[in-house]
Amino acid sequence: MSFDVRDREFVALVGPSGCGKSTLLRLVADLDVPTSGVIAVGGEPPASARRHRLFGVVFQDPVLLPWLDVLANVSLPLEVARGDALDQAAPAALLDLVGLGRFAHARTWQLSGGMRQRAAIARALVLRPRILLLDEPFGALDEITRQRMNVELLRIWSQRPTAALMVTHSIGEAVFLADRVLVMSPQPGRIAAEEAVPLPRPRTFETLASPDFLGCVSRVTKLLLTAVEERRP
Ligand SMILES: Nc1ncnc2c1ncn2[C@@H]1O[C@H](COP(=O)(O)OP(=O)(O)OP(=O)(O)O)[C@@H](O)[C@H]1O
Ligand SMILES: [Mg+2]
Repeated sequence: MSFDVRDREFVALVGPSGCGKSTLLRLVADLDVPTSGVIAVGGEPPASARRHRLFGVVFQDPVLLPWLDVLANVSLPLEVARGDALDQAAPAALLDLVGLGRFAHARTWQLSGGMRQRAAIARALVLRPRILLLDEPFGALDEITRQRMNVELLRIWSQRPTAALMVTHSIGEAVFLADRVLVMSPQPGRIAAEEAVPLPRPRTFETLASPDFLGCVSRVTKLLLTAVEERRP
């Protein structure tokens, strides 16, 4: 596969289970090493992009340290990076941005699932990454909370100059969030198709009922079905 994510672009990745979406994200995040091929983040290979904190990651299950409060969890990357001359965002301001300002000194186990994910997003943003890598960050949340988190994510993303590459199982979520949706074929995954999402921003709950949104969802659904069908023997 070959694709680019432009500066400040939001790209969503959809595809059947097991096609390699998480693997792809792990390769970009330097958590796995490709056997062949080239990946560049801000022009650098993943390992050096990781050293230079060019990306932030948010996975389905937010790993927060239970013995630290919320603020300390969000500040953790700064502690780890201490001494490096890095562009930093103030953790307290980020907590305000994700709506957790009042919970700075709460313990992470006192937070709801959605609040934990917001803390994880704040933590991923604290070193001002060029790109956010998100792997089904809201997969474990109920439908309403998930949609509210999507609106929140767009608000946060619109206020931070980062690109985003997000894996999701939900075509609606992909279309709602992204500038472009990449559709993967079954394993071994390829980029089978892509669909630009020309919906205006800011996107709101009303967007979900608009004919343009529904049309785009139906086009991506067809592309995904075609990608899955074509692979059948
Ligand atoms: N192109 C590939 N070549 C070989 N193995 C692959 C390839 N893509 C994925 N795999 C393997 O398939 C398994 C599932 O991949 P992965 O977890 O990336 O799928 P996924 O698309 O994230 O699925 P899900 O939607 O269920 O999370 C992993 O063990 C991975 O190593
Ligand atoms: Mg996965």
